[in-house]
Amino acid sequence: MTPYELIRAKRDGGTLPLEALRGFVSAYGRGEIPDYQMAALCMAVFFRGLEPAELRTWTEAMLRSGTTLRRRNPGPRRVDKHSTGGVGDKVSICLAPLVAACGLVVPMVAGRGLGHTGGTLDKLSAIPGFRTDLSLAEAEQVLDQIGVCIIGQTDEIAPADRRLYALRDVTATVDSIPLIASSILSKKLSENLDGLVLDVKVGSGALMRGLLEAEQLGRTLVDLAWAMGCPTVAWLTAMDAPLGAAVGNASELLEAVDVLRGRGPDDVRKLTLRLGAEMLVLGRLFGSVPEAERRLAAAIADGSGLERFRAMVRAQGGDPVVLETPAALLGPLETTEVRAERAGVLAAVDTLDVGLAAVVLGAGRIRSDDTIDPGVGFTIRRRPGDRLNQGEPLVSVHHRPGQDVSEVCRRLAAAYRLADRAEPTLPLLIARQEVRAS
Ligand code: URA
Repeated sequence: MTPYELIRAKRDGGTLPLEALRGFVSAYGRGEIPDYQMAALCMAVFFRGLEPAELRTWTEAMLRSGTTLRRRNPGPRRVDKHSTGGVGDKVSICLAPLVAACGLVVPMVAGRGLGHTGGTLDKLSAIPGFRTDLSLAEAEQVLDQIGVCIIGQTDEIAPADRRLYALRDVTATVDSIPLIASSILSKKLSENLDGLVLDVKVGSGALMRGLLEAEQLGRTLVDLAWAMGCPTVAWLTAMDAPLGAAVGNASELLEAVDVLRGRGPDDVRKLTLRLGAEMLVLGRLFGSVPEAERRLAAAIADGSGLERFRAMVRAQGGDPVVLETPAALLGPLETTEVRAERAGVLAAVDTLDVGLAAVVLGAGRIRSDDTIDPGVGFTIRRRPGDRLNQGEPLVSVHHRPGQDVSEVCRRLAAAYRLADRAEPTLPLLIARQEVRAS
């Protein structure tokens, strides 16, 4: 089958011969299929979808475009977590070392922030010297020594996905459930895992704003991961308000470290414990989530989670002493308050707009080559359901001295809707998805 025939078959709603599909995606990974033909196939997939066998073939071909992490045999079980992203989501930073401190290996491949969503790598990069670009050989060494690393996608990890994601970004084909699922899993499964926990965000700041589409994405991911041999659980969780209080790279890093110190906002701690417990159960350290949550809480209380985080920072080239002097990490800042324009109840937050306001402030990027300022950000003062008097602070904007933040403040004020009565909000933990009984 020629590339032309393959594109036409999908365009017309046909099911593709798996060998031809594998050949097409593999050839794209080797640079032998031009972007315009891959873009046409992605658009056909956007409208027609992929059958489960097609999706698996597509994902395997992307995974095999690169190499996978080697593992010691026998060694501790390997688990990871992936979040579909949002505003203020710093969970990976405290979760990965905490789970490693409990005895599993966490080889986390994470992403940079793009658009309104923040990225774990940008938050960690606020630590001077911290390297996220470890080669797989270097990552394996760190894993052998301390059982956890957090790195970015390099040319070794699913390079076909890297190229394809950039192509999808400019051809309006990012928001396709099969293409998202294959992109996420081609990276995550290159870690050679025994278990994966997915945090599929739902709400105004999420990739999937509606519950139905988030359920579809979670189901597609769980089924695909199991079909590819990786036991996986998904949680649909709320992203209808920023997670925690800190939004901004260095401040989110500090908030995640606070969780490891036994402090930090309730929602960040709760999500960390639940997702971590799922990882410990998938890693077969515990038979139940409550037992596993108690183990994680103990690793916070005895400081072993924090110690593991410090060890990871050292192993990846940073000096954890900077975490003791937040003001030095953040740099010189001034604060401007965004205040409630009327009295009432905070009914809803357009979290996408909060994330975009952070980009305008300099904390995020629209294009992948934009530079960011790690120190600037917001402190979220109020959550949906809170009652406020006129003039009370909603959000504190931390900016560089003299920086013009009028546009940032205007956007934030518009993102917060006050009303006379509270409106329904999503629970933090909405629903759990696991493998379907056959
Ligand atoms: N994250 C990914 O890694 N890929 C997508 O396609 C969307 C989100």
